[in-house]
Amino acid sequence: MSRSAHPAGPRHADVLPEGHYSAPPADLNALDPKVWAQTVERDTDGVVTVGGRPVTELAEEYGTPAYVLDEADFRARARAWRTAFGADADVFYAGKAFLSRAVVRWLEEEGLNLDVCSGGELATALSAGMPAERIAFHGNNKSAEEIERAVRAGVGRIVLDSFQEIVRVAHIAESLGRRQRAQIRITVGVEAHTHEFIATAHEDQKFGIPLAGGQAAEAVRRALRLDGLELVGIHSHIGSQIFDMSGFEVAAHRVVGLLKEIRDEHGIELPEIDLGGGLGIAYTSDDDPREPHEIAKALSEIVTRECESARLRTPRISVEPGRAIVGPTAFTLYEVGTVKPLDGLRTYVSVDGGMSDNIRTALYDAEYSVALVSRTSDAGPMLARVVGKHCESGDIVVKDAFLPADLAPGDLIAVPATGAYCRSMASNYNHVLRPPVVAVRDGQARVIVRRETEEDLLRLDVG
Ligand code: LLP
Repeated sequence: MSRSAHPAGPRHADVLPEGHYSAPPADLNALDPKVWAQTVERDTDGVVTVGGRPVTELAEEYGTPAYVLDEADFRARARAWRTAFGADADVFYAGKAFLSRAVVRWLEEEGLNLDVCSGGELATALSAGMPAERIAFHGNNKSAEEIERAVRAGVGRIVLDSFQEIVRVAHIAESLGRRQRAQIRITVGVEAHTHEFIATAHEDQKFGIPLAGGQAAEAVRRALRLDGLELVGIHSHIGSQIFDMSGFEVAAHRVVGLLKEIRDEHGIELPEIDLGGGLGIAYTSDDDPREPHEIAKALSEIVTRECESARLRTPRISVEPGRAIVGPTAFTLYEVGTVKPLDGLRTYVSVDGGMSDNIRTALYDAEYSVALVSRTSDAGPMLARVVGKHCESGDIVVKDAFLPADLAPGDLIAVPATGAYCRSMASNYNHVLRPPVVAVRDGQARVIVRRETEEDLLRLDVG
């Protein structure tokens, strides 16, 4: 079952190819629609616009750095997932990619459900009016307080991650006089990243209960015995930034195998399976992601085929895309502060943000694209490294990219595909203030998460 081996990496972080840059693009002013939000284009003056608003105006009004999110694109992608999966399946947006109350409302309106993995995400979802039955609660170490809040709120499912949690959730639900709908998260021995996956008998990571050694079957046995739980399904999440569907194929095969074992042992057919998230997006022009309808078709065919051969009723499928919905919808807008050519090497372009607003490059060696957006340029390409303002040499936003050689302080540049895991993983390192998220739609811009202020910082510091 093992495919080409890939560098073992954290299941919850993508492992991207070794850093090497391709040749300069033919046209440095071009904006590849693969990596930019749908409504992004250049106006006749050469200024980039999104949702009909020039970035120069946005920078003036909201300052830089700023995450600029194309609301129409977000809604369109959410709707595309919903439509692709249809009425017989559920799409749970993974809030960890980026969550705010506006986003919760858009999801609610577009008919998506929501995956949360902490009390904070749950609070955000509930405060924006997401119906609790459309929320799934995840996490490998939910606190008793978080579990109680989720059960009281009436979340649609809690995804159980360990033997201890099975008992803990059952006990809390029972003490509240509830029967909590739950899925058990299992690890199927498949780990996928980008174009490759490995299938092993055993996995060495913190999430879920291993299928190996009959542990998942034992977890099901225990959950079925507890009055506080209504076990409705099995959950599997195999990795992140995945383009290759074959990892899902192996995972579905193994999950359905467990459903069959459950049927044979207990005489019940669990009605749901969740295949998690992890679908990849284009960060650079070299990436070729799949469309939601292709993914939906592939997953439903795999599950239907596996169930037919196991003589099981096809369960209701759910998926949890985060990055694939929000990732491409936003870019980070920066102002260039300094341009420092290092002879024979590259030019360092310092911007007014950095690893505090995008840790992914430093953390995962992630690759990004970048473009000059406040004007066009006829200058030739220069090999650039876009760096931040933090006191750390690893503070790199874009490792290798071509920018016009006449780039100067005061120019605005933007890094596309920063909608997922940038604001949500942002920090206050060096007491740098976290940027706002500005949503633009039909010529209107509004702040959905405001810029952090020095007062915010000092409020937490009680002296
Ligand atoms: N469902 C579960 C159970 C997950 O653990 C995750 C991601 C998702 C869904 C959503 O995965 P997505 O479709 O967004 O790839 N910080 C890393 C990614 C961590 C993903 C954690 N779990 C990054 O910046 O690449």
